Amino acid sequence: MNDNSIVLPKFYSEIKSDSEKIAFSMPSDLQTGSFLRTLSATKKDGHFLELGTGTGLSLTWMSEGMSENSNLISIDNSSEYQNIAKKYFQKPNISLVCEDAEKWILNYKGKKFDLIFADAWPGKYAVLEETLQLLNPGGIYLIDDMLPQKNWPANHDKNVEKLV
Ligand SMILES: C[S@@+](CC[C@H](N)C(=O)[O-])C[C@H]1O[C@@H](n2cnc3c(N)ncnc32)[C@H](O)[C@@H]1O
Repeated sequence: MNDNSIVLPKFYSEIKSDSEKIAFSMPSDLQTGSFLRTLSATKKDGHFLELGTGTGLSLTWMSEGMSENSNLISIDNSSEYQNIAKKYFQKPNISLVCEDAEKWILNYKGKKFDLIFADAWPGKYAVLEETLQLLNPGGIYLIDDMLPQKNWPANHDKNVEKLV
């Protein structure tokens, strides 16, 4: 990956601009996005899960990597954030679910996933084992924000250490 010339996916700039208007401040960085696009492309006809849609920025990368017959479910409990993603992603193979992700994970009975991008508290710091159980053999579990960040709440480093 060349950090100096990362080609942005379709709708990235539009969603970024909409996100700035509502002061959404939690997007994954471009390197994570680019990596997600590549990983998504490795799972032909894959079944993908994203925990924490946000406004859909990480979704732009995953969507661009996905093959035509792949599908993706993305969960967020904020309709304000997720409605921005909904504006750009109205595709039959992308389902945007507005629900508490912990409840969703515990109730999910469908087929297992080839890649899970866990970008919310549930699936990372809560119901981790249950989330990992949703992966197919050889499936990929991806998380980011594991290095100290300015916006971490007090003592969050202990959560991170335990998770790692
Ligand atoms: C780091 S942001 C996601 C960013 C997005 N993946 C991206 O890279 O642009 C985390 C998201 O998790 C959502 N969230 C927090 N707690 C949640 C919960 N219990 N269930 C579902 N979503 C949750 C927040 O609303 C927020 O949009």
